[in-house]
Amino acid sequence: MKTYVTMGRGGTGKTSFVALMARYLIERGDTPVLLVDADPDQNLAEMVGVDFESAGKKTIAELLGDTFIERGGTTLGIPPSRRIENRIWEQGLYEGEHFDLLSVGTKWVEGCYCLPDAALKNALSEITRQYRYILIDSPGGLEHLNRKIASSVDIIFDVMGPSSKSFAHVKRAHRVIQEVGITFNHLYVIGGYAFPEELHAKAAHDTGLPYLGKIVNDPLVAGRVLAGESLLEIPAATPAYRSIAAMLDTLVPQE
Ligand SMILES: Nc1ncnc2c1ncn2[C@@H]1O[C@H](COP(=O)(O)OP(=O)(O)O)[C@@H](O)[C@H]1O
Ligand SMILES: [Mg+2]
Repeated sequence: MKTYVTMGRGGTGKTSFVALMARYLIERGDTPVLLVDADPDQNLAEMVGVDFESAGKKTIAELLGDTFIERGGTTLGIPPSRRIENRIWEQGLYEGEHFDLLSVGTKWVEGCYCLPDAALKNALSEITRQYRYILIDSPGGLEHLNRKIASSVDIIFDVMGPSSKSFAHVKRAHRVIQEVGITFNHLYVIGGYAFPEELHAKAAHDTGLPYLGKIVNDPLVAGRVLAGESLLEIPAATPAYRSIAAMLDTLVPQE
């Protein structure tokens, strides 16, 4: 099992990157893949063609409310982590042909419920162990991750935006990761679709981190996102997809 997570400022292209990374793994047959939408904006589902609500699925925040808050701790004899795990399997997990998807929801990111957090952590580690790859689409920082989803990840991708603030972000990110106690094997910097070519050398030099390359600015991707269409069926020759596949080719172990 490998866990990959994105970070970076808003609008740099993190969510579309995760969707196209899912496409890459599916194309390679590296499944099952679990997608975790940990951004309260919840746009990963749409980018992989899933209508989470119409599919009758609930976010983890909603299930936590159902399990621990509205209905209290009345299910005697069943430990909290078991209770939430059962609910996630039954009501929270969208099961697709090539990938499954969980959505974190809003309240959960903002709130802190200590019992649920501990129970959830156990439950999620049971659930996630079924997968070969777990791709987490996170909002800007990673502060929310550790207590909840993942305290140990294989790769963190920091997707850089066009402004000089992106450089400051990368430096701060490193510190935040250490402060919240997330361990990782690799931290890579990626130029987002709007990251200027002329800053590539600077990205590698200033951040002191391995710079993997840049996501190509691609009107097809922008158009699909705008239209609310899936990025999974995007043609394999699409420049943005090719650029992401080329980066991942250097990372994902070849069979
Ligand atoms: N490769 C790309 N080429 C052109 N536009 C893109 C690309 N990736 C994303 N975008 C545009 O940028 C916007 C933000 O992308 P998104 O992946 O949601 O970023 P983030 O998750 O970092 O906020 C999307 O609405 C889309 O229009
Ligand atoms: Mg996003």
